[in-house]
Amino acid sequence: MLPENLTQALNDQFNNELQAAHAYKAMAAYFSEKGYHGFANFFLVQSQEEHEHAMKFYEFLVTMAEKPQMQALNEPKNSFANSMEVMESALSQEKDVTKRIYDLVGIADETHEHATLSFLDWFIEEQMEEEKMFRDIIARLKGIQEGGEYFLKMDDEFAARKN
Ligand SMILES: [Fe+2]
Ligand SMILES: [Fe+2]
Repeated sequence: MLPENLTQALNDQFNNELQAAHAYKAMAAYFSEKGYHGFANFFLVQSQEEHEHAMKFYEFLVTMAEKPQMQALNEPKNSFANSMEVMESALSQEKDVTKRIYDLVGIADETHEHATLSFLDWFIEEQMEEEKMFRDIIARLKGIQEGGEYFLKMDDEFAARKN
């Protein structure tokens, strides 16, 4: 068992990771509609990864003898002006997740829950990588025309993403 406020916060993050998976599918759909199937694949794989993050919280709650509780998902942003806006939304979503993970670490620290602190370490590392990945993509997209030669090269590259 865990302190009630910590259980609540862990459960909120379980659901927030599912929300992230949901939002990434909407980003995939932007690219699918345009026929950029490599970029779409990139976001579908990203969505799958968020589902795996959610399940890490699910399993941790179960391990600590707590019950995961499903919450309603919100409608994600479904329309984007261009691929840069998609990537900027993704980066801002990841920054928000990082903040939520830090808040969780704060609660685990206050309640001296060392098992939870150890569990959350992995997410701190992961968030550093996630933010870097989107920052790098944004840097590559700057000055690139959507549908142009280099953009299509990136589409081919993203078609190969498997995990
Ligand atoms: Fe995540
Ligand atoms: Fe993420």
